[in-house]
Amino acid sequence: MLSLVLGTRPEIIKFSPVIRECERRDIPYFVLHTGQHYSYQMDRIFFEELELPEPEYNLDVGSGLHGEQTGKILAGAEKVLLQHRPDAVLVQGDTNTVLAGALAAAKLRIPVGHVEAGLRSFDRRMPEEINRIVADHIGDLMFAPTGTSAGYLRQEGIPEEKIFVTGNTVVDAVRENLEIGQRHRGILPGLEDLKRGHYILVTAHRAENVDERENLSGILKGLERLHHETGMPVVFPVHPRTEKMMRGFSLSAQGIRFMEPVGYLDFLRLESGARLILTDSGGVQEESCILGIPCVTLRENTERPETLDVGSNVLAGTDAGTIMERSRVMLGRVPGWENPYGDGQAGRRIVDILVEKGFTG
Ligand code: UD1
Ligand code: UDP
Repeated sequence: MLSLVLGTRPEIIKFSPVIRECERRDIPYFVLHTGQHYSYQMDRIFFEELELPEPEYNLDVGSGLHGEQTGKILAGAEKVLLQHRPDAVLVQGDTNTVLAGALAAAKLRIPVGHVEAGLRSFDRRMPEEINRIVADHIGDLMFAPTGTSAGYLRQEGIPEEKIFVTGNTVVDAVRENLEIGQRHRGILPGLEDLKRGHYILVTAHRAENVDERENLSGILKGLERLHHETGMPVVFPVHPRTEKMMRGFSLSAQGIRFMEPVGYLDFLRLESGARLILTDSGGVQEESCILGIPCVTLRENTERPETLDVGSNVLAGTDAGTIMERSRVMLGRVPGWENPYGDGQAGRRIVDILVEKGFTG
């Protein structure tokens, strides 16, 4: 039996192809939700839209300082894992849920599979970088999305027999859900006037960006200037962390369409119709690349170098002038790059490997 530990928006989305594959093949598994994300728009909406089964457990850990959140997940996950002793635990990505889920399993000597292993920003100030490194070094099966990520694992001395290049399950998720979104979703309220290829989509939530007044203010100024110069609507579904910090810093931006986070089907539609995407999200950098939409990343580095290599993405940081300059470059970029994240079969490949290793009895 497998246990899938998840807790945040991107983990639900990127695990959905693996969950669907387990369902299709009748593979015994259970989902342990940590409750790191809990607002309807960050959690439940994805289970509903993607028609995923209810998680068997929810630790309801909620928000908190890193140690507190990680510690609560560690203690809660340990109890559940002790009770069930699954054959393997899967974690996905780089959140505190991943760190604590992997650690709980490793200490119980339960094999850990890390989906999206081997990503590196080489910036240890990012909490996510610490989480990735720990999960990769205590895990047993490394599902690296690309040859680049597999290469980083090898450079760090991870044995070859642990490394599997599977593609990224985000491709599966985009393919499985884009069409459903286009067929079944109406126009979002307040966005009736958006024309395909004539608006800009934005997300930002990285702690190092939005928790620093100067960085958040730089991003917002850059967006205002971009709206002014291009005349295009700028649509910004706001992550709850960013909403809280904008309020705390009393920051706003003229002419920007701020809205609550949207579900995956609406977000995919918004992405696929955008002229340009600005983001500091990992998943959104990948999706823009897959969907053929130019992307400007509001960071100084990225653990998704494949997007820079194929030309779908550039780095801009948070300075308003640099955001403008890089946006102009990307507005002139003609899509047509290759998708480096695989063929949309990553979920199937991961489950095949788990079956072959005997973890799905
Ligand atoms: C977390 C991950 C980040 C990931 C992101 C995905 C860590 C260290 N960070 O960041 O890597 O990219 O999820 O979105 O694991 N909040 C709500 N409702 C929610 C969740 C959060 O209101 O459902 C608010 C709370 O005020 C909370 C803040 O957002 O304090 C931050 O939440 P947290 O889970 O700590 O980090 P994220 O910024 O969401
Ligand atoms: N996303 C969404 N609704 C939104 C914003 C993002 O469904 O309003 C999806 C997006 O398509 C991607 C994922 O959330 O699949 C990215 O999550 P996030 O940016 O929170 O985290 P990261 O990928 O940076 O860890």
